[in-house]
Amino acid sequence: MDLKWTKKDLLSLYDLSRDEILCILNTAEEFKKVSQRNVKKVPALRGRTVVNLFVEPSTRTRVSFELAEQRLSADIINMNADASSFRKGETLLDTLYNIQALQADIIVIRHSATGAPNFLARSLDMGIVNAGDGAHSHPTQALLDIFTIREKKGHVEGLNVVIVGDILHSRVARSNMWGLLKLGANVTFAGPATLVPREFEQLGVRVCHDLKEAVANADVINMLRIQMERQESGFFPSVGEYSKFFGINQDMMRYIKPDALIMHPGPINRGVELDSFVADGPQSVILEQVTNGLAIRMAVLYLVAGCLK
Ligand code: CP
Repeated sequence: MDLKWTKKDLLSLYDLSRDEILCILNTAEEFKKVSQRNVKKVPALRGRTVVNLFVEPSTRTRVSFELAEQRLSADIINMNADASSFRKGETLLDTLYNIQALQADIIVIRHSATGAPNFLARSLDMGIVNAGDGAHSHPTQALLDIFTIREKKGHVEGLNVVIVGDILHSRVARSNMWGLLKLGANVTFAGPATLVPREFEQLGVRVCHDLKEAVANADVINMLRIQMERQESGFFPSVGEYSKFFGINQDMMRYIKPDALIMHPGPINRGVELDSFVADGPQSVILEQVTNGLAIRMAVLYLVAGCLK
């Protein structure tokens, strides 16, 4: 199967066709082999400059992108938003016009403002890779989740994938939804009604407010982080109550198929979404998701760089 990539940006899985998603997954399979060699580096981005601009906290995504860039032999600039001219009132676009004037090739950006990467992609010739924007999109997270599902299950089509938690505010849930639906999976969103409104059904997912019912026939259960910073907003009465009804512990595992995958994008609130018995148990693939994220980000950077002028 000859799958072609023609985009200079990766903004959202909503924008991608099924074939474009498969192109990234298949390319990542090849890059995963590179990371299993003694010499884990290839010259694919030699002479290219990648700028990492994280205007919101990140551990996994930032480190994974930087390592991916190193493995591809790119030149790397890590911009510190707090120490940049943003603090003097310069706009995001003006800052990046200056970076472009220095002949940088690709910007990897995380930003709290929904749509920031799309706005930049329309204005700049550089490649823009979205590392998470507001509650909108986190395409490389969803791609690494889907890669892990495909690797473990052998296929994605027809699988029952349940995503649990704060769907309302989750860019991970939205990105997984677009990617999984395009590849033919059945997607369920589960959580309290305040965080999982019925309106999501209009997008083609099942909505369920009872965890036991949601997970009964699940092949994959992806647990989202409860965003403690939103706890004040009254979406649920207390963390303890959330955990009792929507967390997975040893007891809840009795209702889950023994071959179902337990996933989490991180960071985990241990004892809230998952207890340690489950997070570190035999059905958990959480650290394999992290490993696969490196291959996905190498593939994305390689494909985007191939479409730059
Ligand atoms: N999963 C994820 O995006 O984690 P970070 O916020 O640590 O990058």
